[in-house]
Amino acid sequence: MHCLMRNNTKHLLNWSKHLSRQCTSKAIISEPKEKLLYNDMLQRRQQQATRSIVVQVQSEKSFPELYNYCASFGKILSAHHYRIHQDDDQHYILLEFGSAEEASAAISSSAYNDELSGVPAHSPFLWFRATSSIRTLKAADQTTEAKLAVIGGTTMLDNNDLNDVLCEASNLDQQIFHLHQKTQLNDLGVRLRFLAALQVKQAVSGIFPNANAQPFGSSVNGFGRMGCDLDLILRFDREIVGAAAMQKRNNESRLVFHTKENLTNGRSQTQRQMESLGDMLHLFLPGVCHVRRILQARVPIIKYHHEHLNLEVDLSMSNLTGFYMSELLYMFGEFDERVRPLTFCIRRWAQTCGLTNPSPGRWISNFSLTCLVIFFLQQMKQPILPTINALMKSASPDDIRLTEDGINCSFGRDFERISFRSRNTAKSSELLLQFFEFYSQFDFHNRAISLNEGRSISKPDHSALYIVNPLEQVLNVSKNVSLEECERLRIEVRNAAWVLESEVENPSQPDNGTQSPWGILHLFKTNEKAVIRPHMFFKPRMVEVSDLFDDSTTDTPPTPVDYKNANVKREVESIKSQARGDLKQMRINTSSAAAAAAAEANATIIKTAKGRRGR
Ligand code: GTP
Ligand code: MG
Repeated sequence: MHCLMRNNTKHLLNWSKHLSRQCTSKAIISEPKEKLLYNDMLQRRQQQATRSIVVQVQSEKSFPELYNYCASFGKILSAHHYRIHQDDDQHYILLEFGSAEEASAAISSSAYNDELSGVPAHSPFLWFRATSSIRTLKAADQTTEAKLAVIGGTTMLDNNDLNDVLCEASNLDQQIFHLHQKTQLNDLGVRLRFLAALQVKQAVSGIFPNANAQPFGSSVNGFGRMGCDLDLILRFDREIVGAAAMQKRNNESRLVFHTKENLTNGRSQTQRQMESLGDMLHLFLPGVCHVRRILQARVPIIKYHHEHLNLEVDLSMSNLTGFYMSELLYMFGEFDERVRPLTFCIRRWAQTCGLTNPSPGRWISNFSLTCLVIFFLQQMKQPILPTINALMKSASPDDIRLTEDGINCSFGRDFERISFRSRNTAKSSELLLQFFEFYSQFDFHNRAISLNEGRSISKPDHSALYIVNPLEQVLNVSKNVSLEECERLRIEVRNAAWVLESEVENPSQPDNGTQSPWGILHLFKTNEKAVIRPHMFFKPRMVEVSDLFDDSTTDTPPTPVDYKNANVKREVESIKSQARGDLKQMRINTSSAAAAAAAEANATIIKTAKGRRGR
């Protein structure tokens, strides 16, 4: 059986090479490599989805029978098993045929179950009946060498197993690399997401033959983790193509479509359309459940769960800038192979110290955090990433993209043409430390972060954290972040720089024969002794943590830390000295308060005693 890796397209080979590139402990230098264009990647995945079906089975053991049955519809290129844990385990196998026609033949041959009520709808989501009496298999058919490419392919590595993997790595760079490899969205995850998109596209294709439901966000930009949600943008009848191609067709054709007049303004119209769409998804599409409509948001969306894919979906119709932003993120990830592992490590650190949160709120989002990483890599003396302005300058006429609201999303897409090459050869572990050091010193109070310019600019307003929205530069990507959360970010990056410094100086696995956590794992656990937290500065409990600071009263003097960066050293010294001052003041306050309380208590006792004597 063929599998995905044997596909002979040049791009695919490049891509799989890219995915399986081995990590070495040496500095990873950005070498020129052929990169897959974003649109080519999307197209390849969309075509793959049209060749695929998902069949619910008893267990992975049903595979040989399923394979033999389905092989009669066409050549099966690959098969992938996954399970969904509900009350009991549900097993599924994704089959990829050689062509869309073969997959379609399998779907068309499928029957409806008359014993169950339900809306009859053709879709690639099927189940495999337990009986073998329907079709008698030839003996030859049953001897197959077919293999599942993966069993339990969507199961996430649990934290303990991940920690074991990271403990066993031989150096910090390998830890960072493994963290990325073991937690990133895998091939099956992407396949399932494109099937969800295909289902929506097919659902509206009767009215809109050119409709397209396009995945964007972390499912496709290479920054997605296993289990990430699917962001989808549905376009009824306009492909997401260059303005030039669209203009050409509009100018040349003499036949013009009659169209339905918009009944209200654009936004209300979209909201009404989305409401109907939500109903349609809810009532007719197999697998779609828990449909929620969030229509008053800046970008109205329909959220739903797909029970056969175990997937959360956010469907929008008007978030083209989000789509193009994903393309930019994808390109940044492709420019240099250190970018994604570094971002994964920083995102995990932020998650474990509670800076990010799965639900939206006043905290920093994963997207904003990714912007912080990109900006850090742009502003270096030897930049690892180009600025967005540089990408915009390298745009060719084919790259011109305008959204319906007139937002310019034109930037160079051809890596060759952009010809950016970094000379920076720092290891990922060094970059990680530099990231924390950089943001330890960043003036969040007065400066805004601009990925367009690759340098900080004056803050346009009083938002706590200001990251200029790269495609709508009057907006702030992190407007939601509260002052308190920004302060926590500042404190946590200092903690991390502090913790990581000694790890970077001793970057290899400690040879102590134990499996105790080391390296980046120290970033992911909140060891109270190693970390400064805001409450230490604001609560009397601070007295208990004086062992954090050089204290002449302790028996064991603290080990002096040799700070590489003079600014960080100064910062840490200043925190320590301020903390010492605060401690001293608190002790004075506490003892004078205690003295005052004692005096008051004495006075009361004397008064009471006098009163008793008087009676
Ligand atoms: P996770 O969902 O956390 O895995 O990451 P994500 O990258 O998918 O983030 P999210 O679902 O919040 O957003 C989806 C995509 O929309 C992002 O990848 C960006 O491309 C884009 N996006 C999100 N927020 C903004 C924003 O404020 N401005 C712009 N231009 N695009 C945004
Ligand atoms: Mg997302």
